[in-house]
Amino acid sequence: MKEAMLNDFRTYFGGGEDVQVFFAPGRVNLIGEHTDYNGGHVFPCALTIGTYAAARKRTDNKLRFLSMNFNNKLITESSLDDLKPSEKAGWTNYPKGVMWAFAERGMKMDCGLDLLIYGNIPNGSGLSSSASLEVLTGLVIKTLYGFDKVSMADLALIGQYSENNFNGCNCGIMDQFASAMGKKDHAIFLDTSDLTYEYAPVKLDGAKIVITNSKVKHSLVDSAYNERRQQCEQALNDLQAEVDIDGLGDLSEEEFEHYQNCVSDATCRRRAKHAVYENQRTIKAVKALKNGDIKLLGELMNQSHNSLRDDYEVSCDEVDFLVDEARKIDGVIGSRITGGGFGGCTVSIVEDKAVEEFQKVIGKNYAAKVGHEAEFYVVEIGDGAHAL
Ligand code: GLA
Repeated sequence: MKEAMLNDFRTYFGGGEDVQVFFAPGRVNLIGEHTDYNGGHVFPCALTIGTYAAARKRTDNKLRFLSMNFNNKLITESSLDDLKPSEKAGWTNYPKGVMWAFAERGMKMDCGLDLLIYGNIPNGSGLSSSASLEVLTGLVIKTLYGFDKVSMADLALIGQYSENNFNGCNCGIMDQFASAMGKKDHAIFLDTSDLTYEYAPVKLDGAKIVITNSKVKHSLVDSAYNERRQQCEQALNDLQAEVDIDGLGDLSEEEFEHYQNCVSDATCRRRAKHAVYENQRTIKAVKALKNGDIKLLGELMNQSHNSLRDDYEVSCDEVDFLVDEARKIDGVIGSRITGGGFGGCTVSIVEDKAVEEFQKVIGKNYAAKVGHEAEFYVVEIGDGAHAL
């Protein structure tokens, strides 16, 4: 991939000196959904698919961007004096947002950049193509401009900051953290209340992680996401009148049951219930994986989906269908929606012997029901962002 990126860079930007190539992965979350902005735990892993960059500093102030994912191969030009979000800037709002976020932290780039991008995460799949682009841009800037003190965890925070304040989605830290900090064959057990984390080996004796892409993305995803977040904040506010907590992740299930009536709005109460129970499920799931109890991990994943569907209401008919079909197959240990929701992907743990049938049966039934094909990826867990 490095050679292909260098070649394309030469073709479209000219001369090959001083060009560096980088990669940042997408992620899949095994469990712990919509807990990362509630001070709870998440358990994602980095994928081997992601976004690549070939980049070179310029001597003037110009920024030139090109994505190999579009057929027109048009270079988008901007400048360091124009780090403002705009509709016209399209996908380049992501790298520009990260440049802006560096500058906000006192790290101004002293000259412009030529940036060639190629990504192999399916568009709108909920596997964090935008977070990978943010972390990737961060790594480019850190490396080329010599901001050595910036750690990989900082790159995650800078990416999230740019997404929240430049691109307008109030996301949590999970996606950027997984992309920056991923480790081959491990999932990251991250406590989002203080960013402490632990790598857990993903050993699924005789089973695989399979992602199924529904290839639907319902509109208003960002606004529905931001609304969920607000509802959790409202619930937290109500609870804080009674109990001393910093986030919903501080509550056990029993404590939530005890205090839940403090939350005046019924919808907010259900949202909070999901956040509390999902956090506890995540803690239990990591223990189960460590103990080699894959069956329990699968059950917790199933419960996670039901809660996201019923209490958090971020699933949709197409994804529910995929999960229901998966659960009918002998050898499927657990299946749930993964990521922000309203379409996107499911993640399932599937015994080796059932992986083929899983794809065949679900593929056929899904196409017949929904009218377009689903896509399947048998997961390989890769490393976090790095230079190539
Ligand atoms: C999106 C956000 C994450 C997280 C998930 C839901 O992927 O970017 O921060 O909140 O949704 O778990």
